[in-house]
Amino acid sequence: MFVCSCFGITEQQVKQHAADGACTPRQIASACKAGTDCGGCVRRIQALLGRGACPRREQIAERPPVLVTAAEAPVRRLGDAA
Ligand code: FES
Repeated sequence: MFVCSCFGITEQQVKQHAADGACTPRQIASACKAGTDCGGCVRRIQALLGRGACPRREQIAERPPVLVTAAEAPVRRLGDAA
């Protein structure tokens, strides 16, 4: 079944992008353009993502928060190797 008729994106394609790591409608849009024309499919995409189509959602919830103070943050200077 098509989710995004503007770009011919199916529910299965959205679920596959979610399984590959796209956890937000914006990330789905980056992966396949769904939601970037009329926007009529964005709520449907949000609903699909909200039904556990994204495996990273649980992993993110299980991780401790990543907060560092400015003193703890790594300092990188121009010219440092990446
Ligand atoms: S239906 Fe998806 S952008 Fe129009």
